[in-house]
Amino acid sequence: MFLHLKPSNFAAKYFKYYRSYYTVKRKAVKDENYIARQIYQKIKVKGPLTVADYMKEVLTNPMVGYYMHKDMFGETGDFITSPEITQMFGEMIAIWLLNEWQKMGSPKPLQVVELGPGRGTLSSDIVKVFSHFKALHKAKLQLVEISPVLSEIQSRRLCSQSHLCSEKMVVYRQGTSHHGIPVQWYKQLSDVPSGFTLLVAHEFFDALPIHKFHKTYSGYKEVLIDIDPNAETNNENSEPKFRYVLSRNDTPMQKTLLKPDETRDHVEISPDSILIYKQICERLKATGGLALICDYGYYGTGTDTFRAFKKHKQVDPLVLPGTSDLTADVDFKTIREVANNEGGIISIGPATQRDFLLKTGLEFRFRALKENITDKKHLENLSECFRILTDKDKMGERFKFFSLFPETMKRILDKCPVVGFT
Ligand SMILES: C[S@@+](CC[C@H](N)C(=O)[O-])C[C@H]1O[C@@H](n2cnc3c(N)ncnc32)[C@H](O)[C@@H]1O
Repeated sequence: MFLHLKPSNFAAKYFKYYRSYYTVKRKAVKDENYIARQIYQKIKVKGPLTVADYMKEVLTNPMVGYYMHKDMFGETGDFITSPEITQMFGEMIAIWLLNEWQKMGSPKPLQVVELGPGRGTLSSDIVKVFSHFKALHKAKLQLVEISPVLSEIQSRRLCSQSHLCSEKMVVYRQGTSHHGIPVQWYKQLSDVPSGFTLLVAHEFFDALPIHKFHKTYSGYKEVLIDIDPNAETNNENSEPKFRYVLSRNDTPMQKTLLKPDETRDHVEISPDSILIYKQICERLKATGGLALICDYGYYGTGTDTFRAFKKHKQVDPLVLPGTSDLTADVDFKTIREVANNEGGIISIGPATQRDFLLKTGLEFRFRALKENITDKKHLENLSECFRILTDKDKMGERFKFFSLFPETMKRILDKCPVVGFT
């Protein structure tokens, strides 16, 4: 077929560790304890932090946050997400988007929006497929990315030229893709202009801050992060240590977020995600389009999923904050609830990654690519990538797909159900 194979040896080797991204090359601050000390000072002044505040500080602190100062580093890098494993993943997403867009009558102008594009690989594969099918007329690529370093890496992957914009503009970087369409970068979805939108979020929501609650004999308490008094020293260069504590009184978030009929021992809720789900629904209702959300997660049943990854291993989220990736599973039931509360939105899913990809035609693509490969190693590699994406004990079951459509699509979707979810 039309695209060249680029399977990753690295993927096969590290398939066990899905949630590891970027080799850490500190630019601004080399001190591994820097964020820990900032958090320590914050807690000294303000008291224990919520897990959400801790995640925000660790992941997106403008100076040293985990996402804010990573370089991307080819062969030696230690990340692995589905789009990085093989181009087949992005191609299937692109084919799905094209198919659903065509059912809508291929409205133009069209903006493809990706939330948290990482290295820009998924967007790049989507644009390539759209270009192949001549679907880029009056199209734009809009990227929502908080990290200046990653936005630069994305621009190198996607654009023939790009530049930073004036600080007065909501677009902070813009360029032209290798296929000739405009590409623009924003810090948040609410800044992306309204208009017909095909929105994709792959492993974006699991990176957003969560509040954690724990059931006790005296009701739910919010889980907070405090300084560990057993590890306090007078040496200001030592590594501060933290521990989990429970709030003494009801916290504002507990009152706002926890449902009265909640029964789980541990509950994790991401108000930042809820806000973005709402914005997506409002956008789809106002100007049409669809959203495809892909992430690892559960449907209303998850409990204690907050964790950290460093160099392909799960580590303690409270140790050396800023040197590891923090993440929590996505609750797809919450997306449906937001959509239902908003009204005028059809929510479909979740489907497992395996089901979604196979129903979208991954196996056909896999066979077509195989037919053109003569090199044995290359062939083995491609087969391994296929297995990593679809096997139940690899990424096939844990990763889920969920889609949102405006209710105006109901008649069409009743006739031609959404591919990948039936
Ligand atoms: C876990 S990575 C996923 C990367 C990519 N989608 C993939 O699957 O390879 C999360 C991405 O979201 C971005 N991100 C994290 N928090 C963000 C926020 N609050 N706003 C915008 N982007 C954010 C990160 O910089 C990164 O690009």
